[in-house]
Amino acid sequence: GKGGHRHFMAKEIFEQPQVIGDTLSAMFNPTARTITLPDLPFDPATVPRITMIACGTASLAGMVGKYWLERHAGIPVDWDLASEFRYREPVMTEGGLAVFISQSGETADTLAALRYCKQQGQYCLGIVNAPESTIAREAHAVLPTLAGPEIGVASTKAFTTQLVVLACLTIALGKARGALDHETEARLSGALTEVPSRAAEVLNHDERIRAIAEETFVPARDVLYLGRGTSYPLALEGALKLKEISYIHAEGYAAGEMKHGPIALIDEHVPVVVIAPSDDLFEKTASNVQEVVARGGKAVVFADDAGVGRLKDLALETIALPAVDPFVAPILYAIPVQLLAYHTAVAKGTDVDQPRNLAKAVTVE
Ligand code: F6R
Repeated sequence: GKGGHRHFMAKEIFEQPQVIGDTLSAMFNPTARTITLPDLPFDPATVPRITMIACGTASLAGMVGKYWLERHAGIPVDWDLASEFRYREPVMTEGGLAVFISQSGETADTLAALRYCKQQGQYCLGIVNAPESTIAREAHAVLPTLAGPEIGVASTKAFTTQLVVLACLTIALGKARGALDHETEARLSGALTEVPSRAAEVLNHDERIRAIAEETFVPARDVLYLGRGTSYPLALEGALKLKEISYIHAEGYAAGEMKHGPIALIDEHVPVVVIAPSDDLFEKTASNVQEVVARGGKAVVFADDAGVGRLKDLALETIALPAVDPFVAPILYAIPVQLLAYHTAVAKGTDVDQPRNLAKAVTVE
């Protein structure tokens, strides 16, 4: 059942504190504060390169993973959409690791990319939610997301648990390669353990986000989402979520790209969602908010208390999320973005769990 919620999507959004905790517990030792991955069929210390491959929302988890692995594990990471990768005959580094992210484990393009990578002699690692799926069976190793069945077509808890697995993979590889000192490892793992309780706090903003959705997003024809660093894939995810369930046209942009074109779209009719956790890019994002507002745009800002303090006079709306280590911000900022899409769609009266033209698993290309 829907656990008292109106839609599976709402139930699944609200399950996130629990399933994030479950996924983390499988890999995290709370006393030693260390991450332990299952035995992997490759040596994490010597993997020369990673290729991250998936479709849709799973690909956006992979993009966050790329940013994390480059920064904290010092490994070069290529990122690709499975539907592009599989037909390009990409050149692959010998002994490389290929990571396939999939909720269903049955996505045709992701599976075809996995088979190609096997032929190319890559170690193939699946991050999969359905343990009996084809991708789980054909990969050399699997790191499971313990999200439980996801029924709503729009991916929510699968996405955040994919992020948790990628965060653990980042810490484990960073450690194995000597890229993380002990102090940083403890800081990153400590930040991860706080995520379930912080996620529960974020869910308290549900009512407020519903009000913003009804007032500002339901009437909109176009919406922009902006972010930098790991908030850039979150901007893409926010736009994807909104368009697939509310049918409002939305685009995610790297905030620094605004003046290369999309700023021409801004006027008083365009809500601009800004994902701005306190991190080393906050000030840069803040100046993009200024540019948006100067052109009449309606900025809706997701930030922590410090960020809200800095931007509340400029923005139309602000939501103050808990202050967290920037490492885990993408996991937490996924939640308001999901709630915003959900409430906009509910208010518009669309079929939230079964949006038109979409299937839960895309088993044909
Ligand atoms: C969006 C969504 C899709 C899936 C994509 C990949 O909300 O659900 O974009 O993420 O079809 O599906 P899986 O993860 O099953 O390979």
